[in-house]
Amino acid sequence: MKADRLLEEIKLKTDIVDIISEYVQLKKAGQNYKGLCPFHSEKTPSFMVSPSKQIFHCFGCGTGGDAVSFIIKYENISFSEAIKLLSKKAGIELSGFRLDKEASKKRETIIQVLKESLNFFRENLTESKSAQEYLNKRGIDKTTIESFHAGYAPMEWDVLFKYLKGMGYSDSVIKDAGLVTFDERGYRDVFRGRVIFPIFNLQNNVIAFGGRVMDDSQPKYLNSPETEVFKKGETLFALNLAKEEIRKKDYAIIVEGYLDTIICHQYGFKNTVAPLGTALTPGHLQKLKRLTQKVVLVFDGDDAGVSAARRSLSILYENDFRAKVLLLPEGEDPDSFLRKNDSHSFRTILHKAKSATDFLFSVSKGDRIDTVREALGIIASIKDLIIADELLCELADRSRINESALRGELKKIKTKVPMHRDVEGLRIGRTAMNREEYLLLSTIINFPEKADDVLSRLNIEDLRDETIKSLFKKIRALANKLNIRSLLDKTDNAERALITELSLKPSFDLEHVDRNIEDCFKKLIQRSLYERIRLAEESGDLNLLNSLLLEKKRLIKVVPA
Ligand code: GTP
Ligand code: MN
Repeated sequence: MKADRLLEEIKLKTDIVDIISEYVQLKKAGQNYKGLCPFHSEKTPSFMVSPSKQIFHCFGCGTGGDAVSFIIKYENISFSEAIKLLSKKAGIELSGFRLDKEASKKRETIIQVLKESLNFFRENLTESKSAQEYLNKRGIDKTTIESFHAGYAPMEWDVLFKYLKGMGYSDSVIKDAGLVTFDERGYRDVFRGRVIFPIFNLQNNVIAFGGRVMDDSQPKYLNSPETEVFKKGETLFALNLAKEEIRKKDYAIIVEGYLDTIICHQYGFKNTVAPLGTALTPGHLQKLKRLTQKVVLVFDGDDAGVSAARRSLSILYENDFRAKVLLLPEGEDPDSFLRKNDSHSFRTILHKAKSATDFLFSVSKGDRIDTVREALGIIASIKDLIIADELLCELADRSRINESALRGELKKIKTKVPMHRDVEGLRIGRTAMNREEYLLLSTIINFPEKADDVLSRLNIEDLRDETIKSLFKKIRALANKLNIRSLLDKTDNAERALITELSLKPSFDLEHVDRNIEDCFKKLIQRSLYERIRLAEESGDLNLLNSLLLEKKRLIKVVPA
């Protein structure tokens, strides 16, 4: 079965209300259902599900889509994984369904061999006194060992290799899983004489291992190499365990190390994750973004910690996150701090985490102006206008430099580094700025039979809102096959959110569709006239300007502005 056929079948056999009800408590409200949005925290429900249109939309955070996009976002899984999951729920046989069958088969075998290895490591921990003593010495209790599935790799050269061979796995699979290396002496286990902390993906499959020596030898930690199932720059340690809590608390604690993460969880801070000994990357944040867009960084207060926090802050803000920083007393990490003190003290200092600007000022050794410039650099990279504005106000407050001066400087920085502004950034103010574009789109979405008329009169290239423009192009491409569900399959997040928003809240009087269309076109004509007037003013062409102003007078009589 091809992917789109399967998608059709899923849509026929599932009901969005049933599916979302498994995750969100829904109450009937008129024709629709209402509930508390699972994608942002709220006290009054603004999350709507429409059984007739088979879509959902949250009027609080703007997320919207169909059953498939709901599952992708909620479960934080890929499109094909969501399809699998929904097929299962709908009782559809997947046997003929191909999505890179070869590749996915290999991945599955690798996942299997890693799972067997994890069993092997865990089994070995129960037999190793010294490893148990080590974990005990590090203050990790039995429950935590269980929930993190910690294990032990014995000291021998190739016990794991032999164990896996004995189970029938091929040399190449064991190697491709990153478990052995090969040299003139043959195959050797990668992990030897180390305590093992497995790394899971969000589906709770083990995809890699981290191993720590139990003495002072080097290297202290060893990670699995990158494999087909493990990308370091996209993997956060313990995200599988932290997922629910991050969503619930609507923020993640990011620490630096394995042990820090483990101990934070043990002390009740279950929204803690860590990169795997590398700097934070956009790939990490992509994974996190579906759960929250807020982060508290907890780092050692030494120089290395400060510079790591600086780098992480930039990456976070560039990726539309808000972040705070908590620097621990020098020489302490979350692990040592928690074990010396207690969860209460940690909670107290966590609440005192500094905002980005406060942090920059507090660690600044140089001149105040340098710090202001550093902060402006961060602000210039923020795509989300609201977050940028929030930070700018904070900076004005903190630096006591007036806001308009800061805005002026910011403008200079921004023109030096032309920023790619994505569609999400433009969402702000859409209804105010480009209301007629918005209403025309709404008309077509709610009355697809009007599409021909609108499209024949509209110059799509003149539209200002990039999301609306791209949607009109997609609508034009679908021509007479237009309906919301087929359109939803072809859209990105911003587009999807707009479609579901308009489907549930058209924003014009449905009794007067044609009048709405006429009004919109009149406004569009007016708008282009204003644009021409502005250009004439700029060029100083007085004749042109006069004739345009006359035209405006005539037009205004017909359409009051
Ligand atoms: P403990 O000494 O066990 O408390 O480790 P930690 O978690 O406090 O680690 P540390 O602050 O020394 O390092 C932070 C993280 O960097 C670790 O959790 C590892 O992910 C990584 N790391 C540290 N040392 C090494 C190393 O020698 N090799 C590799 N690959 N990663 C390391
Ligand atoms: Mn440590």
